[in-house]
Amino acid sequence: MIDQKLDNTLQAISEFFNRYKVGYEGNKGYRKTTDLFKLHRAVEDLERLGLINKEQTVFWDLGCGDGRVNLFMSYLVKFSIGTEIEPTIFEECEIRKTEIEDALKKKHLLLPPPNMFLYLGDSLSKATQDAVFRHTGYLFNEIDIFYTYITLHDLFAEQIINNAKSGALYLVYGFSKILPSYDGMELVNPDVGKQNIMTLYRKL
Ligand SMILES: C[S@@+](CC[C@H](N)C(=O)[O-])C[C@H]1O[C@@H](n2cnc3c(N)ncnc32)[C@H](O)[C@@H]1O
Repeated sequence: MIDQKLDNTLQAISEFFNRYKVGYEGNKGYRKTTDLFKLHRAVEDLERLGLINKEQTVFWDLGCGDGRVNLFMSYLVKFSIGTEIEPTIFEECEIRKTEIEDALKKKHLLLPPPNMFLYLGDSLSKATQDAVFRHTGYLFNEIDIFYTYITLHDLFAEQIINNAKSGALYLVYGFSKILPSYDGMELVNPDVGKQNIMTLYRKL
């Protein structure tokens, strides 16, 4: 029953954010956002493989936008961290969170657990990593899964290779046929969730 309620909650969150998907303009033009239905299927794959769990996994979306991926993941991981560089986009996080909480309450669904930390800053900067540590207690080299929707995927990969722990996972949304390779990472799964959209790497 609890699993069914969680499933219904994740479904409602995906439907809610899908409304904010098409033709959305940010400061830098059209903004791509993760389809949470697709993320859901990918996460089921990761759970099946034992690569993600609620008790242990610490997750970081390196360009979190309006925080949708973080909100979704907060139900499925121990801690959900997101960092966003654009102040106007970052402002939306709190607005969307309040809206979705109201919608979930009305439907008697599960409210997001208090394990989410969103921060305005450049994910590539040491200052942002230090701020995340100060607020959450997690160092960059304690993160289990990093995420990006293509954005700066190569620079984030470099950052992970240089600073994350060995074995840290890197989930990239948006690749399909042509998959980049990164020196210092191995390809774990070219098509997580079998939707031709998400790729999983692991730091060696
Ligand atoms: C394609 S959007 C994806 C948003 C969200 N992760 C999702 O999938 O729905 C990428 C976001 O990364 C942000 N971004 C770009 N460079 C960044 C950086 N160096 N540090 C933090 N955020 C960054 C952009 O402003 C944008 O909001």
